[in-house]
Amino acid sequence: MFPKRPPMGFNTWNTFGENINAKMICETADAMVEKGLLAAGYEYLVIDDCWSEKERDPVTGKIIPDHVKFPDGMKAVSDYVHSKGLKFGMYSCAGVRTCADYPASYGHEFLDAKTFAEYGADFLKYDFCYKPQHADGPSLYRRMSLALENCGRDILFSACNWGCDDVHTWIRSTGAGMYRSTGDIFDNFKSMRDIFLSQIDKTGYTGSGCFNDMDMLTVGMRNRGNVASTGCTDVEYRTEFALWCMFASPLMLGCDVRDMDDATLKTVTNPCLLRISQDEACRAPFIVHEDCDNLKNTYARLLTNHEIAIAMTNFTDSDSRVWFALDELGLPASSGKALMLTDAFTGDVIGPVKDGYGVPVDAHDCKVYIAKVVDA
Ligand code: GLA
Repeated sequence: MFPKRPPMGFNTWNTFGENINAKMICETADAMVEKGLLAAGYEYLVIDDCWSEKERDPVTGKIIPDHVKFPDGMKAVSDYVHSKGLKFGMYSCAGVRTCADYPASYGHEFLDAKTFAEYGADFLKYDFCYKPQHADGPSLYRRMSLALENCGRDILFSACNWGCDDVHTWIRSTGAGMYRSTGDIFDNFKSMRDIFLSQIDKTGYTGSGCFNDMDMLTVGMRNRGNVASTGCTDVEYRTEFALWCMFASPLMLGCDVRDMDDATLKTVTNPCLLRISQDEACRAPFIVHEDCDNLKNTYARLLTNHEIAIAMTNFTDSDSRVWFALDELGLPASSGKALMLTDAFTGDVIGPVKDGYGVPVDAHDCKVYIAKVVDA
């Protein structure tokens, strides 16, 4: 499946880890609809690792759902998810076992793809643990991709090899619709910041059809669940969300959406940020201005309608002024042009801005604007 825009949804791993079951999946589906998340674009509900029995069915050879966690089978769960208007996602791995030591798909790709189709899957996350030593990443992802292409159902292929083997250079050719480019995220500011900064030299490797996935969001986790660490402040979560939108990363919620608080809901449904994320042109972001070893950079992304998304970051631990020159964006003084900026968080309009723009940014906060070019 060829996603035209960064996929959006929810994934069980960050909060629930192995503690998944039919009841919490159905409750999550309900919450995604009731809280307006589906209406905002969060359409995939993905069950990550730990959903199956520890061994394949001895007769059919299929991977089968854990009979305690999913007593009515997986099709019953996917039927419920579909009845809510959502899409259903599942998980397997390119090796012989999954990362949490459940059966995985190496050597069973075509059978498993058919099984996932029978279970009603619309999305498959495909991990990289326990792969045979002789097997290389490109061939493993090609195998499952072809199996999915031929399973009789439209399934978005979500590769997850953590950025190994220069994945950004070959993954698009396998048919994957998104690809994890980093190790696992944890619920703290440093983890989020380091993941983001590790991708700033690869901004060209995302776009329609195959998006750079910087991992599931920790926004709103508040230090609870499977990847809990120290947690983040609301400002830090907002920064994470804004930067995932700027970089066109898939937006997979990782908090418990059943009890998502108002501040989190406001962040993840911010219309300006979602407009940037889902802009139909899907152009690559770029660095406008580098400062303080990338801790105070300004980034931009050209949007449709001749607009420009601009994000100004302050990853340092103190409040600071962040600045860029219009010339660096492509507007030299000789152009006779200026910028009008609309603040993505407040709606305030600033400008016309000529020559350069500097603004105080609190520690770990960011400023995001949608800019229009006007006569100076
Ligand atoms: C790997 C992936 C995670 C998650 C776990 C499940 O670590 O990177 O996102 O899927 O496996 O075991």
